[in-house]
Amino acid sequence: MDKILVRGGNPLIGSIPISGAKNATLPALAASLLTAEKVHLSGIPHLRDVTTMLELLGQHGASITIDERLGVEIDCSGINNTCAPYNLVRTMRASILVMGPLVARFGEAEISLPGGCAIGSRPVDLHLRGLEAMGAKIELGGGYIRATASRLHGARIVFDLVTVTGTENLMMAATLANGRTILENAACEPEVVDLANCLNSMGAHVEGAGTSTITIHGVDKLTGGQHRILPDRIETATFMVAAALTNGDVTLTDTDPSLLHSPIAKLREAGVEIDMGQDTITVRGPEKLKAVSLKTFPYPGFPTDLQAQMMVLMSLSEGAGTVTETIFENRFMHVSELQRLGADITVRGNSAMVMGKPKLVGAPVMATDLRASACLVLAGLAAEGETIISRVYHIDRGYERIEEKLLALGADIQRISG
Ligand code: EPZ
Repeated sequence: MDKILVRGGNPLIGSIPISGAKNATLPALAASLLTAEKVHLSGIPHLRDVTTMLELLGQHGASITIDERLGVEIDCSGINNTCAPYNLVRTMRASILVMGPLVARFGEAEISLPGGCAIGSRPVDLHLRGLEAMGAKIELGGGYIRATASRLHGARIVFDLVTVTGTENLMMAATLANGRTILENAACEPEVVDLANCLNSMGAHVEGAGTSTITIHGVDKLTGGQHRILPDRIETATFMVAAALTNGDVTLTDTDPSLLHSPIAKLREAGVEIDMGQDTITVRGPEKLKAVSLKTFPYPGFPTDLQAQMMVLMSLSEGAGTVTETIFENRFMHVSELQRLGADITVRGNSAMVMGKPKLVGAPVMATDLRASACLVLAGLAAEGETIISRVYHIDRGYERIEEKLLALGADIQRISG
């Protein structure tokens, strides 16, 4: 398995482009199942999770063409299989996103239960309850969900808690339901808005995306569509932290600062200098980082997908801060790895107290999940000496060519196979 070797100490200087958002690409790809006409998506990132979703659509019978600019055209006129198998679903939980479209268009779906993952049990009960409210029959057995419906009907669905893919799954299902569906306590993430824009380009009638109440007026069929995926706000913020940690001066292009109000405010509080353009963000790291505290919340609150990265910054700040994780029950797997680099972090329940230190010292560490692996790369960039990160397949799921982008900024980083 590949590893990443980082030698710390180089300030990151220069400019790099941001890729399309993984968490907008995955639902948009699933949405192509809703129509027999071709859907064209541009600006998709070249990531393992995207490849997995394309493989999943392919085994359903979709035909997929990828052009030289990494645009993808999906033709789901020939869907001949409504089962999402365990061997694919277990590698990517977001496979659950094909369930709503399959039930809505074909009246059936057989989806392997995703199972838990490193950051939590991550049930899908709210996805299933919503489909039942729309008239689907849900049976569980043999590790699979079997959902059937003659035709889904509109419903008013109030989510017990905010779920991003739950909102996306039911929004997609509702586009072909008979009547109107109202989703309340819906996720407001930009990726939900992006999916709504994609669906509306296919002839759907989705209103209110980006607010906690989304209304979908069902139609009999959808057309083909064209959509450009929005920039990845988590990739953007990850590189912002990298610049802040290394006393760097980095401009991120092809991004959207309006998606990042909370991370920008928090980094400015830590003493980081940030300038914003229309589609650029320039970040200058300070000599000394100030301690901050943060609590993760659904959008527009501080993103849970950035919690691990910020913990590295806090480990090198002057003073103490606390991180409170309110979304997932086990998203501190990176703490023990950061402690190997000398970080002073104490975890109590869903909170971690971080005592800033003048430096971290490189050591071999192991990635446990996607964002934890990114945090270990960031720590290696700032640590003294060499850091070797194993199990980097985690990072390839969500970051396009991360070591190439960091190399372009002057990092001393390389991928070593074996
Ligand atoms: C999405 O996951 C993202 N993934 C995650 O990004 C992100 O961390 C998460 O939203 C929160 O922002 C994609 O969009 C593909 P949730 P999702 O449903 O939808 C509980 C990354 O690093 N819950 O919003 O699976 C759940 O256990 C990934 O890119 C239920 O209890 O997350 C969690 O505690 C990691 N029942 C909370 O809700 C349900 O039916 C929020 O989960 C659904 C969720």
